[in-house]
Amino acid sequence: MKTLIINGSPRKKGDTTALISKLTEQLNGDYKIVDAYYSDISACVDCRYCWNNDGCSINDEMTEIYDYIVDCDNVIIASPIYFSQPTGKLLDVCSRFQTYFAAKHFRNQKLSVAPKKGAIILVGGGDGNPQKAHETLSGILKQINVTDIFSLTGSFNTNIIPAKEDAKAQQDIDKLIEFLSI
Ligand SMILES: Cc1cc2nc3c(=O)[nH]c(=O)nc-3n(C[C@H](O)[C@H](O)[C@H](O)COP(=O)(O)O)c2cc1C
Repeated sequence: MKTLIINGSPRKKGDTTALISKLTEQLNGDYKIVDAYYSDISACVDCRYCWNNDGCSINDEMTEIYDYIVDCDNVIIASPIYFSQPTGKLLDVCSRFQTYFAAKHFRNQKLSVAPKKGAIILVGGGDGNPQKAHETLSGILKQINVTDIFSLTGSFNTNIIPAKEDAKAQQDIDKLIEFLSI
């Protein structure tokens, strides 16, 4: 089993990372973590190369991610909520999935990536509204052929209870591992 995990948090020992660590401690198989804040991945600049060509005109670490996505089984996106949305850097990385949209809509090609399971892990300080971020990321996962998305997982009161001490969030990660392993 191969799992791609995209981490949208700048905090190396923060809440998102705590839940990702819980996940990877028990996850079977190979996994690759992309740190949106610390990897060399630029945002899509809508150059439109992919309207007529496979891949992307930007040559950076995203090339490895494209290769991994071809046959990985799962994609997990994990992010803090900033102003009710995923972080900007996470969206920068995800903007590079535009090449898959272009394959379908401009190049009239079938998606060349295997269907996948996926999940969205969100953490928030406590405004109680992860829905907008969840909706945004669900749409993004569908672009990369994630056909089975696990129910929203995360920790939503981190100003008071850090994710690593949130029993419900920890249990939900256990359930997510089960979902990915079936
Ligand atoms: C710029 C900014 C905007 C934020 N907006 C929200 C928000 O809209 N809703 C919320 O619940 N928490 C919000 N937060 C709080 C973070 O989501 C929260 O602290 C989270 O646990 C940080 O995760 P991390 O430690 O993985 O980076 C915001 C934090 C920052 C820095």
